[in-house]
Amino acid sequence: SHTRLLFCDCSVIQVILSAFQQQKEVRLKSSPADLVTETDQQVEKMLISAIRRKYPQHRFIGEESVAAGEAVELTDSPTWIIDPIDGTVNFVHRSQAQSYCLCHQTEFGIVYSCVEDKLFHAQRGRGAYLNGKPLCVSGQTDIHRCVVVTEIGAERDDLALSTMTSNICRLLRLPVQGVRALGTAAVDMCQVATGGADAYYHIGMHCWDIAASTIIVLEAGGVVMDTDGSEFDMMSRKVIAASSSAVANGIAQVVQAFPCLTYFKN
Ligand code: IPD
Repeated sequence: SHTRLLFCDCSVIQVILSAFQQQKEVRLKSSPADLVTETDQQVEKMLISAIRRKYPQHRFIGEESVAAGEAVELTDSPTWIIDPIDGTVNFVHRSQAQSYCLCHQTEFGIVYSCVEDKLFHAQRGRGAYLNGKPLCVSGQTDIHRCVVVTEIGAERDDLALSTMTSNICRLLRLPVQGVRALGTAAVDMCQVATGGADAYYHIGMHCWDIAASTIIVLEAGGVVMDTDGSEFDMMSRKVIAASSSAVANGIAQVVQAFPCLTYFKN
């Protein structure tokens, strides 16, 4: 019913798809690689007002509302975590992968990859699905046979860049079979849920980039943890999602975190 609410009662998909073809006015946010368009803001407003009509008491953490100065507060009250367009750089460059994602606390998650027409969703205890078909992680336990997805991210300071690139080098030296970056953290992480990738890690993303995909990966049988191997904290800006604990721990041993300077500091 949540999917019906969001896909039938509001026309966000048409808004995104028609804007995708147009020339866009782009503004920078926290870094030269952190972009926002009118469409990001419009879609977030549309989603929030559609949900608010149905659930007036619920709270929101939305990427563009936070960029506009709203506080990030995750409490025990029902909270929707929203990224109106994940992969805004792809959206601006009219590149394939971009998505929008929604998560209701840790109860369910929806990631819709508009251009590919792929709808990922999961509800706690009820499995994960892609266009209605059940998803299952690869089950891979050998890190040397893994395809690993990651993101370059929006941090552009020297320490972030050198740590981020040496993380990739260390993985390639293990070796893993491949490292990929699609340009949307949400869809990257869903690759683990489909079994198309065996692991995903990211340092510097925000809760709205990965909240929905976290439930999708867990419900597809995967594991999610911090990049230092500790328990996952959605607000920590660090994540590993993998097909097995063995692979997640293997990534945690190789990857080093760095301070994230964009937005609020961690
Ligand atoms: C970004 C995308 C990108 C990732 C960045 C995110 P946005 O989200 O997920 O792939 O590298 O770290 O901030 O800003 O396009 O919603």
